[in-house]
Amino acid sequence: MGKNTITSLMEMKERNEKISMLTCYDYSTARLVGDAGINSILVGDSLGMTMQGYENTLPVTLDEMIIYGRSVVRGCPDAFVIMDMPFMSYQVSVEQGVESAGRLIKETNANAVKLEGGAAVMGQIRAISDCGIPVCAHIGMTPQSVNAFGGYKVQGRGEDNARRVLEDALSVEQAGAALCVLEDVPPKLAALITRKVKMITIGIGAGIGCDGQVLVYQDMLGMSGDFQAKHVRRFAEIGEAMTRAFRDYDEAVKSGEFPAEENSFVRSDCSDEFLEQLDREFKSE
Ligand code: KIV
Repeated sequence: MGKNTITSLMEMKERNEKISMLTCYDYSTARLVGDAGINSILVGDSLGMTMQGYENTLPVTLDEMIIYGRSVVRGCPDAFVIMDMPFMSYQVSVEQGVESAGRLIKETNANAVKLEGGAAVMGQIRAISDCGIPVCAHIGMTPQSVNAFGGYKVQGRGEDNARRVLEDALSVEQAGAALCVLEDVPPKLAALITRKVKMITIGIGAGIGCDGQVLVYQDMLGMSGDFQAKHVRRFAEIGEAMTRAFRDYDEAVKSGEFPAEENSFVRSDCSDEFLEQLDREFKSE
């Protein structure tokens, strides 16, 4: 298929072809995502929850993002890889945003960065884009503002909120964003935004009217426990399959059924006589 670039993704939008994006945080999974032909990978700060077990994304640091991001890029060279900018790595100032974005690109070899917020982060989007780094904006339900929202709630409901979300979309595009995630935005509003902008819209819980879709991979593989957000479809039950395999392994080890003879690396290297001699030489006290 070849490398997905911002140009090839823009061409997909022009041809009305849908763009697939998944989150990913490690080398082995990135290889599988690449084998499946997914266009774009988001190394999301959702890794704070999915990989680190925090209750939200706020504790994730820039250094941690870089460690995860590097392994993803090595595992999936053909996807367009977007690095999330973690909480407080760009909000302090435009300069801080540029420095953080620069580190994410230089130290991971990813293709773009993503930051949350609309009109409020136009300065950061403009300055980062001016450095030649494609920017993905993220509006609607922005998880880094979970405390301000009082929970994870749909944004853009009601006329005032719908107007604000549309204005945010136009602001981030005007600032230079090449892509924009629309999270938990009412589908008709997301479709309207998609028609009004040239940047690529990627929906999560925002209906089919967006240019592409993103899901957190553990959610769509049934690896996130019993809770399931409304926007998630489970495409497989990998969590259940993994637990079953871990249980089978546990039983096989404890019963002595594993390892079998064929699982040993070298079956017979030295003679029984030599092993007996070793046994005598190294008598235990
Ligand atoms: O961090 C993340 O995974 C995200 C997606 C949910 C869009 O921002």
